[in-house]
Amino acid sequence: MRRRLPPLACSFLLLSACQDDPAGDSASAASPLGGLSDEEFELALDLGPLGAPTPDPTNAQAANPTAAWFGRYLFFDARLSGTGTFSCATCHDPALGWGDGLPLSEAAGQTTRHAPSLWNVGHQRWLFWDGRCDSLWCQAIAPIEAAHEMAGSRLALAHAVADAPDLRAGYEALYGPLPDLSDPARFPAVGRPVPEDPDHPEALAWASMDPDDQDAVTAILVGVSKAIGAFEATLQTGTTPVDRYVAALAAGDASAMDAALSASAQRGLKRFVGDGNCHLCHAGPLLSNREFASAGLGERPWLPLDDTGRYDGIIALQASDFNAAGRWSDAPDGEAAGRIDRLSLTSEQLGLFKVPSLRNVAQSPPYMHGGHFDDLTAVVQHYVDMDEELVLGHLDDFMLPLDWDAQDVADVVAFLEAMTAEPIDAAVLEPPDRPLP
Ligand code: HEC
Ligand code: HEC
Repeated sequence: MRRRLPPLACSFLLLSACQDDPAGDSASAASPLGGLSDEEFELALDLGPLGAPTPDPTNAQAANPTAAWFGRYLFFDARLSGTGTFSCATCHDPALGWGDGLPLSEAAGQTTRHAPSLWNVGHQRWLFWDGRCDSLWCQAIAPIEAAHEMAGSRLALAHAVADAPDLRAGYEALYGPLPDLSDPARFPAVGRPVPEDPDHPEALAWASMDPDDQDAVTAILVGVSKAIGAFEATLQTGTTPVDRYVAALAAGDASAMDAALSASAQRGLKRFVGDGNCHLCHAGPLLSNREFASAGLGERPWLPLDDTGRYDGIIALQASDFNAAGRWSDAPDGEAAGRIDRLSLTSEQLGLFKVPSLRNVAQSPPYMHGGHFDDLTAVVQHYVDMDEELVLGHLDDFMLPLDWDAQDVADVVAFLEAMTAEPIDAAVLEPPDRPLP
């Protein structure tokens, strides 16, 4: 938990803020503590800074820098796809805030949801818009084998890793010697489980295998995904203008507050934690409570009407071989595993999607799980109007239209833009030229 100032310290700060600003002519000096109420002040202090994520206990490689390096090598590598043409970076482009700039993604086919940004994704508890994974490595498995994404298969991936000296070196440095996959009768060239279509040629190839050989191949898929997960946890952003403002606010330094944020962004911050109620979901320094909610979205012609969001996400997570409680997890009895059983499936979850982090959000339009809005102004205007007819589910009581004018909307957009920072480590933006450091 972050430190919260006791009420006494607040009034002390109030005093010192007045006394320390002899000029008294800055925007903040006119109303000490940035013109925030006591409650807004407390909430504002919670907006930053964002620390490093806790390493994922279900991934034994999560904090291993060698794994993160190899994961970065793999993330940009098209050999992970069935066609040899698509990598993770096809849809998660560092130049586009780790999104793809499209409402729906396109690789081997088209997805039914928008590619989210991956900045600070190591802080998320649930992955995907519907939270059908509870770790980064569980998540990374899905696109590799999804027909409309990378159209790969775990057998093809295992062969690619075994046959390419660079991939083999990276993999074996982390996990030890690869099994011998050279017998095509035991290890067909392509194959994967296809539960929705057991007669699929790749499903038949997979079903023909000995269970121990299947496990040997799945272990390679999991190993690759855990290295990618270790890399993704390093996608951390540094100090934003808002973080600098928060530090100045905590110190009662009015001139540093004004140096950090424009007057418009300061007003936007007050709206965000004030009458906008944005902080109720976009909470704390991640600007996400890491849970699911409805943002009041109606239908779009390019989106399916039967996307239940979190509801089917819970079903898929509980059934997944790759969840935190499963046999591929490195902490099957840990805290994350315990969480899975505590999820109860009710109609309340229909139409809920994950609350995204808003750090660096300005870099990755369009917005929402279906690319509903082209820019941040349109998103904030949506929260002001709150007039779309929900496709599914219900809205929290406090999600009411806001009495804001165009300037208020622009202020909140200015605040969101001031949530932008450079990566802590700029090396994450490029693939390394070799598989190991
Ligand atoms: C075809 C484009 C495409 C490719 C290729 C792709 N992704 Fe994604 N990614 C998406 C889409 C779309 C979503 C959202 C899907 C959903 O929520 O159902 C997503 C979601 C994610 C998420 C969840 C983020 C969050 O906050 O919940 C992560 C992490 C991620 N992808 C990483 C990867 C990795 C790692 C790879 C490569 C192994 C990859 N992606 C390949 C399009 C793609
Ligand atoms: C009830 C919870 C809730 C509240 C309150 C809320 N949001 Fe959101 N926000 C969400 C959810 C959930 C999404 C993703 C919705 C989806 O895609 O279906 C979202 C998405 C966004 C996005 C798009 C991010 C992206 O990467 O696509 C922005 C920007 C945003 N919200 C800003 C705001 C602002 C500004 C406010 C206050 C005016 C606010 N939100 C209030 C839950 C909330």
